[in-house]
Amino acid sequence: MFPKLEGEIGNKMLFRGKERLIWSLNNYLGLANHPEVRKADAEAAAKYGMAYPMGARMMSGQSDYHEQLERELAAFIGRESAYLLNYGYQGMVSVINSMVDRKDVIVYDSEAHACIIDGMRLHFGKRFVYPHNNIENLEIQLRRAKKMTEQTGGGILVITEGVYGMSGDLGKLKDIVALKEKYDFRLLVDDAHGFGTMGATGAGTDEHFGVQKEVDLYFGTFAKSMAGIGGFIAGEKKVIKYLMYNMRSQIFAKSLPMPMVIGALKRMELLRTQPEHREKLWTIVNALQKGLTEAGLDIGNTESPVTPVMLSGGVGEATQITFDLRENYNIFCSIVSYPVVPKGVILLRLIPTAVHTLEDVAYTIKAFKEVKEKLLNKEYSTEMAEV
Ligand SMILES: Cc1ncc(COP(=O)(O)O)c(C=O)c1O
Repeated sequence: MFPKLEGEIGNKMLFRGKERLIWSLNNYLGLANHPEVRKADAEAAAKYGMAYPMGARMMSGQSDYHEQLERELAAFIGRESAYLLNYGYQGMVSVINSMVDRKDVIVYDSEAHACIIDGMRLHFGKRFVYPHNNIENLEIQLRRAKKMTEQTGGGILVITEGVYGMSGDLGKLKDIVALKEKYDFRLLVDDAHGFGTMGATGAGTDEHFGVQKEVDLYFGTFAKSMAGIGGFIAGEKKVIKYLMYNMRSQIFAKSLPMPMVIGALKRMELLRTQPEHREKLWTIVNALQKGLTEAGLDIGNTESPVTPVMLSGGVGEATQITFDLRENYNIFCSIVSYPVVPKGVILLRLIPTAVHTLEDVAYTIKAFKEVKEKLLNKEYSTEMAEV
């Protein structure tokens, strides 16, 4: 827990003073250490410092760069307008809080990210959950929601993720939007992992499915593909304008500092003009996922770069495997066990990036194959290891 990764952000970093192969950073496009990005960040920090502009956007924290970034984001993902958020997590909480009142009903996927759950905690009205990606059940919840809103005069907001960050499977956006006409709802998609990685131009999971027009509100963060901090919400102009005047996380908080905004503009430029980063990402993703599957490892239903490897075992074995991977194979990845996943499941999560190499992939597949064999041969003790 709380491991310290040191050195330049990349495929190899130092952990406990030793070089390890890192598969746990959402630096999908490898922009964290791109020379143009580092230069833009440093120059903006030197020119403006971290304070400018002071105050909330509405009061004294506005700048041409903030507006330019919003225009570029909206154009990139094919929306009328976008508005910046200081953090993805807080932004999502605030978007949900602003969009609904007690007459409205929220319908959401059971595997929704914590920021969606916490946004809903502020909602005074009803909320109905459907089991992860279960469209039949979603329809049952929508029927309940419609009955309720017909009485209250409210609306229905459906919330899903584009890419689910643990399992890598996609929200079934096509199936969800197909229900819009019948149940008359608005759709909010958290595409934290899809922005920059999914779709023909990297515009996201809704581009991948060809449903950009049907997704009413698109949420993205700068913390992953953009290798920065902050986020944005995008949609129809009138809705974004409403959010600008009602979203408490932006009205009652200081605006994003200039280096973050100018740095994000540079990242946007690279997203648009250097598709080779996304192409390289997918070369690594495809090689890793194909290789793991061919080696007999279970990677679930991922259709995105997020690559889970599912093994069977208890919490003790999970810690032993983590220790073995980190200390003996020099592989660093995230590991999840009960109670985050069902009892008896160990989920190792690999995040491929554009700065990994095919040698990294081959080495990792071989290591994982060995780990699985050791697990099957009961070579890992069930005692907790210190990791
Ligand atoms: C699905 C999802 N939504 C929102 C967030 C929050 O984004 P941020 O790190 O920018 O606060 C994350 C990041 O972990 C995420 O995975």
